[in-house]
Amino acid sequence: MTVRFPDEPGFQGRFAPMRLEGEIRGLEVIQGEVPASLRGTYYRVGADPAWPPATPRDFYFNADGMVAMFRFENGYVDFRSRYVRTPRFKAEREARRSLFGAYRNPFTDDPTVAGLSRGLANTNVYWHGGRLLASKEDSWPIQLDPDTLDTVGEFNWDGDLSSQTATAHPKIDPKDGSLVFFGYMARGETTPDIAYYEADAAGRVTHEAWFTAPYASMVHDWAVTENFVVFPIIPLTASLDRIKQGGPYYVWDGSEDVYLGVVPRKGGDVRWYRGTNRFASHIMNAFDDGRYIHIDTPVGEKSAFPWFPDIDGAPFDPEKTKGYLSRWTVDTHADPDQGHGTTTFTQRKLTDCAGEFPRTDERRAGLGYNYGVINLTHVPGEVPDDGIPGGFRWLASIDPATGAMKRRFAGRDATVQEAIFVPPATDASTPNGHGYVLQLIDRHATGTTELLVLDAQHIDATPVATLRIPIRMPGGLHGNWVTDKQLSRRAE
Ligand SMILES: [Fe+2]
Repeated sequence: MTVRFPDEPGFQGRFAPMRLEGEIRGLEVIQGEVPASLRGTYYRVGADPAWPPATPRDFYFNADGMVAMFRFENGYVDFRSRYVRTPRFKAEREARRSLFGAYRNPFTDDPTVAGLSRGLANTNVYWHGGRLLASKEDSWPIQLDPDTLDTVGEFNWDGDLSSQTATAHPKIDPKDGSLVFFGYMARGETTPDIAYYEADAAGRVTHEAWFTAPYASMVHDWAVTENFVVFPIIPLTASLDRIKQGGPYYVWDGSEDVYLGVVPRKGGDVRWYRGTNRFASHIMNAFDDGRYIHIDTPVGEKSAFPWFPDIDGAPFDPEKTKGYLSRWTVDTHADPDQGHGTTTFTQRKLTDCAGEFPRTDERRAGLGYNYGVINLTHVPGEVPDDGIPGGFRWLASIDPATGAMKRRFAGRDATVQEAIFVPPATDASTPNGHGYVLQLIDRHATGTTELLVLDAQHIDATPVATLRIPIRMPGGLHGNWVTDKQLSRRAE
């Protein structure tokens, strides 16, 4: 057998699989100094196919999770990368080939793996209840050793996770450290069932409620506030018949409305607020005043994912996929769904710059806030000096209340990955948005990656420090900062 990846753009050049697990003690600092006070670990996960795909036109959502960690200690940063040993990864490693087929389509799998979890743990890696968990929204999370990244095994909240899935975008309530999370397609692929959970700071499930969405769709991220959780139903729709026939898992349905499912925290029924067709994925933050819920999210006209086709066969139009950070406001005292075409929540654009991967200072998660970061693909009037349009080229910090923004351009032939906010260790009570921002930047010309440590209030200034990772890190999705103090409190 020959290991050969397809001669397709998604598997060649800067998108070629890396498949490299390794360790570097003391990353090179090529500019500035890493603050000695910064003590903790930045965990992030990327998608890196361990084997050539079993089906044509595969894409990175269907690739194995490669977790990386950057441990900050006394001005040093130690790096480690490791594949998550999912049941799927282990089976394919043994076989030395892909046994699982198309994205979320079990009907395309090798019969020898029937019934085995299709999870890839490639979307997010977070810390809760003394556990490090790598996750993907179609399966249960995988617990990892926070020092070695060795795989401990699947985690289902000690049997309390009744859903077949758990979101890769749980939220941690800064008031009590509880984990607020959900599973969609909770009764299996393409089902419209959503299960909502809360777990206390120790990781014990304390609340569970089930709902049925208006239609089966990708529910990638959601909003959590002090008093409500909100499930956005966006028309990337799924159908069991279609995947049985070998069709795409999701299609973009421009004729379908958007719904926001609003549920009171820890009790109450869902109420569906309906709006006209549009696309949104990640939530920067959300908050409520008891009556109005405000949700900040980049909104585009159509799906940003070219590998999920338009239901009517319309060609992918990058212009229509541009997402503009916007504020949705739901009046929970108003009647929900008033019928087709009646928008029951408002939308206000917060910036003219297009972007995605919004994050916030999570000390204010679910609360009123004035600081977020977002990667930009388009800035009016600015063309990168290397003439390469598109892609994530800028990092911005923004005050969503005023739209005031600071930007930094990543440089020639570069792509920015998701940025995260890190509170200063010495004074965790600094004002909202005062601390550091960490961001990985792909340097395509050299096939290397940089890790920037930025002053969160001055992301446009010279970085506090720039570290060089001498490899091209696989395209990243999400990550989080875990403090030394948190790491010292581990689950039994
Ligand atoms: Fe995400």
